[in-house]
Amino acid sequence: MRTTADVRAALGGAGSVALVPTMGALHDGHRALLRAARASAEAVVMSLFVNPIQFGAGEDFAAYPRDEDADFAAAEAEGVDVVFAPEVETMYPRGFVTSVDPGALGDVLCGRSRPGHFRGVATVVARLLGLVRPHLALFGEKDWQQLVVIRRMTSDLALPYEIRGVPTVRDPDGLALSSRNAYLRAVDRPVAASIPAGLFAARAAYGAGERDAGRLITAVRDRLLAAPEYVELRGRDDLGPYHPDRPALLALAARIGPTRLIDNVQLVPEPEPTPDPRSPT
Ligand code: PAJ
Repeated sequence: MRTTADVRAALGGAGSVALVPTMGALHDGHRALLRAARASAEAVVMSLFVNPIQFGAGEDFAAYPRDEDADFAAAEAEGVDVVFAPEVETMYPRGFVTSVDPGALGDVLCGRSRPGHFRGVATVVARLLGLVRPHLALFGEKDWQQLVVIRRMTSDLALPYEIRGVPTVRDPDGLALSSRNAYLRAVDRPVAASIPAGLFAARAAYGAGERDAGRLITAVRDRLLAAPEYVELRGRDDLGPYHPDRPALLALAARIGPTRLIDNVQLVPEPEPTPDPRSPT
């Protein structure tokens, strides 16, 4: 469906609606979101829109993989009720001027090399939420910074939508699924797989008690077969400074040829063991 009126009519009196925003080129990561949506709401809407305002000059907007027929078929196979594939004029009609600026959250990590990217994401997601008006919207943890930006936006602007994260889906070699993996050549694959290998090694070190930021980052860098754009440790929920006692995010971006890949793992301190009420104190 191309218009909001069609979407509204199709949703009719659905008691609960879940929205999964995508840019298409669907893979099993998107499918995990669609399944979680299917299990959580009466009606599922998937949006399919390659959002021009979140791509910078020189990025891959024109080359972004597009296969609408395959995406419609995949959505149908996952039990999606409505595929909302708006024209650019529907998303950004004449006179459109407002944008949502996520402040410093949009400037760190990927924001440093992609100025304006998270403003473009927050703006399109705000508009999609307003057009579809779901109860729930689902986003992948693979794009953790995006998830933090969207959570913050809905909280700051008091938007009445539940935002849910879905764990990252990976290939057997650990590589996080991404529409951009389609750009990788066979020879790039082991290089790409060194990204999760590095992150998992650091997570194992953290699990064994390592809390030193420098050593955790070195554990990643030592395994990486590509020069990273960044490897950073930050607070998981606010992307603020790393604190060894609080949940952390270890995130990286790396370029393999022209392909920019991102990934992250969460580092969560062991919960305090709950005292056994039967044991003497
Ligand atoms: P896109 O890259 O198509 O991703 C759509 C959704 O799928 C996002 O929430 C993303 O985090 C999730 N996703 C991608 N790869 C995943 C994986 N391997 N495991 C789990 N989830 C995964 O992200 C966007 O589109 C856009 O920025 C969008 C939110 C649609 C706004 O334009």
